[in-house]
Amino acid sequence: LLCLLRRRNRRHGEPPLIRGVIPYIGKALQFGKDAHRFLEDHRKKYGDIFTVHIAGRYMTFIMDPLMYPSIIKQGRQLDFHEFSNKVAPFTFGYPPVINGKFPGLKEQIKRSFNLLQGDGLKSLTESMMGNLILLFRQDHLREGGSWKSSSMFEFCFTIMFEATFLTLYGGPPAGCRHSGMGPLREDFLKFDSMFPLLIAQIPIWLLGRTKAIRKKLINYFLLHRMSRWSNTSQFIKLRAELFEQYDTLSDVDKAAHHFAILWASVGNTAPATFWATYYLVSHPEALEAVHQEIHSVLRLSDMEFSSDRDITMSRDQLEKLLYLESAINESLRLSSASTNIRVAQEDFSLRLDTERSVSVRKGDIIALYPQSMHLDPEIYEEPQTFRFDRYVQDGKEKTDFYKGGQKLKYYLMPFGSGSTMCPGRFFALNEIKQFLCLLLLYFDLELEEGQSRATLDPSRAGLGVLLPATDVRFRYRLRKV
Ligand code: HEM
Repeated sequence: LLCLLRRRNRRHGEPPLIRGVIPYIGKALQFGKDAHRFLEDHRKKYGDIFTVHIAGRYMTFIMDPLMYPSIIKQGRQLDFHEFSNKVAPFTFGYPPVINGKFPGLKEQIKRSFNLLQGDGLKSLTESMMGNLILLFRQDHLREGGSWKSSSMFEFCFTIMFEATFLTLYGGPPAGCRHSGMGPLREDFLKFDSMFPLLIAQIPIWLLGRTKAIRKKLINYFLLHRMSRWSNTSQFIKLRAELFEQYDTLSDVDKAAHHFAILWASVGNTAPATFWATYYLVSHPEALEAVHQEIHSVLRLSDMEFSSDRDITMSRDQLEKLLYLESAINESLRLSSASTNIRVAQEDFSLRLDTERSVSVRKGDIIALYPQSMHLDPEIYEEPQTFRFDRYVQDGKEKTDFYKGGQKLKYYLMPFGSGSTMCPGRFFALNEIKQFLCLLLLYFDLELEEGQSRATLDPSRAGLGVLLPATDVRFRYRLRKV
């Protein structure tokens, strides 16, 4: 207890230290309430580097994106996985993946991520398209030509949840759908609302029904169920085979690993799909430009869209959708708020650029908070405005963004950075593109009148794509082709 209560003092060479008045908690509450505002206020007061005491840890924030490369570059003194290796098992309910108990498992899990790229990505993308079409056809395309009204987050989430689930884990034989998807989705959302508290290591028994809900979610992936599913992706098949090699993993542990992947694959993708849809539907000129682009890419492959024929969008075609990709990236810029974390392995002097270095202590966290960069008016003119073509220049992807006259190596980081960068990022972008292609090709879309602009719910700040504070009503009707 004494250790927890002992106050740390700033030493020579260390960044300014912001402690807060409550022992142990430090500035956690203010940071949790609105991380972006908190960091901006402190940057104005203390400059680009400062250390904040948050829930028992000392976090040194590096706010200048020109310094990001020196942190992201792998260094002996900064560990990338120490934090996630502790936090993820606690949150999803599997035992820590340590070498003593599970020799080689960590490395093999890492290797399984390769199946989310290359040829693996090609088959995932094909399978996702088939599943999206199945859901659109069965749930939305039979509805005739009149306007239908719906809540946009719920609409996007319902489709992306089930289509991603079928694509990764497979489903009942003969193209059928899983029963019980509705309750599973509800439980997922309840678990997701507790996610920030679990990540903050609040014991699960303090969080009401969360433990029972997590158990139900995990049980969905027990072997006797999964073994009945067909069209399971190579990625999940390989992981299942891998877990079978470890007697030290119980059946529930294996299922908990599968559940963690469900969260990783939907927890950010579904809100990201919502924001991309919302920004396009609320900017009719952007919606029209992207709609035209989709048609021209189809025409390039001699495909003409017709609503009574199934449409395919291959990985190559999706890559040609420059404006659609820019619109998705722009909505990720406006809605993502993840923290990139490294843990200092020893006391050392951290070099930030050619002139500056700061002293950090063993166990301290070095944190990048890209949302501050995403909303920096020096890098992005009118940063709060959605410009669907922000990442296009001269018919190509725009990659040059500047701060203080210097070109930035990192300017958009919704997927993290360096060796912990999200391995599912290519799949995520493809599936959001596919969803939007179908939505825009099949439907006229409008926001319902009389609603205020959608705003971000900050409760997940630091952990990924933020949810909307309230859902948005919209109308859709089959397009006349
Ligand atoms: C990790 C973002 C979609 C699988 C991460 C991280 C971020 C992130 C920020 C942590 C990186 C770090 O620690 O620095 C996103 C966003 C997505 C998305 C914004 C959608 C828009 C997906 C999808 C999958 C996926 C579709 C598919 C399976 C993973 C996995 C990890 C991860 C497995 C952990 C990697 C590790 O332990 O090294 N993601 N992600 N993500 N993501 Fe994603």
